[in-house]
Amino acid sequence: MKRIGMLTSGGDCQALNAAMRGVVKTLVGSKEQVEIYGFLDGYKGLIYSRFQMLTGKDFSGILTKGGTILGTSRTPFKTIQDPDENGLNKVEAMKQNYYKLQLDCLVILGGNGTHKTANLLRKEGLNVVTLPKTIDNDLWGTDMTFGFQSAVDIATDAIDCIHTTAASHGRVFIVEVMGHKVGWLTLNAGMAGGADIILIPEIPYDIDKVIDKIEERDKRGSRFTIIAVAEGAISKEDARLSKKEYKKKLEKNPYPSVSYEVAAAIQKKTGREVRVTVPGHTQRGGSPCPYDRVFASRLGSEAGKLILEDQYGFMVGYVNREVVRVPLEEVAGKLKSIDPDASIVKEAKLLGISFGN
Ligand code: F6P
Repeated sequence: MKRIGMLTSGGDCQALNAAMRGVVKTLVGSKEQVEIYGFLDGYKGLIYSRFQMLTGKDFSGILTKGGTILGTSRTPFKTIQDPDENGLNKVEAMKQNYYKLQLDCLVILGGNGTHKTANLLRKEGLNVVTLPKTIDNDLWGTDMTFGFQSAVDIATDAIDCIHTTAASHGRVFIVEVMGHKVGWLTLNAGMAGGADIILIPEIPYDIDKVIDKIEERDKRGSRFTIIAVAEGAISKEDARLSKKEYKKKLEKNPYPSVSYEVAAAIQKKTGREVRVTVPGHTQRGGSPCPYDRVFASRLGSEAGKLILEDQYGFMVGYVNREVVRVPLEEVAGKLKSIDPDASIVKEAKLLGISFGN
């Protein structure tokens, strides 16, 4: 008999349900008897003992469904060891609920912050298996996270749509892409959508170089320019500031996001008409794309296998096109960002894409 606690934590993404279905199908299809406790709304469910008992049936028909059937929330790692507003020790509460339910392990689906807490629980003696979800693709230890490809599709669609209207009006268009502190989503959607300029946090931009590219296109007779801007993109000047100075600057910044700042600078320096489009949370919504359905199912089934083998303390990852088991301590607290010298960046440059540097 295996008693499994399962939770999804942090921002949602596509294919969370597909991954959980993969775990449960693998377990239910084995000779083991399984009891599944679905904790609601991420770590909060585990802290406050809010859960539902689930069976294999609950995971039927959810392969194509976006979001998460368990609900999710953000429980920042920064404050996980602080008592809650009623003085409750959250880490102790999670441990007590784990032991009270006599769980054999926790299956935790999440991104960076989630993995830090998962690793803490591992260090506290709980059996943990994790799965890498996030549209940002910024988790260390895996070449790819599920949710990423689906988000690339949506962000690419947004750029495709903008292309036709930009061409008609001869305008400069900025599409702001999610991705938190990294540029994976912007780089991939930007290349897929044929963006002319791609601004990512890993390559701080020089606004004059951005304008040079727009003017070069003008001279060649292209009436419009598409710029894919990562929400975390940063100018060369800002990148030189200390964390504290940058935070202070942002507090006084009149722009809702970096895209508007880039737009205002282009408008001011060139007199051109610039428009900003922010697809925002649509990038995390809707059905997972077929790639993510297969991918998340594969990772989920490997997580099921780990549990059947009583192997804990691993994240199931994907390295060099193979599903792999990565020790949690190697994953937690590390960010996977784009190497500015990576071949994909060099290839993009050969295609004529400017990174504004
Ligand atoms: O981590 C996923 C993500 O969508 C990021 O790309 C984005 O910066 C953030 O979450 C948005 O968070 P929230 O949903 O809390 O606004």
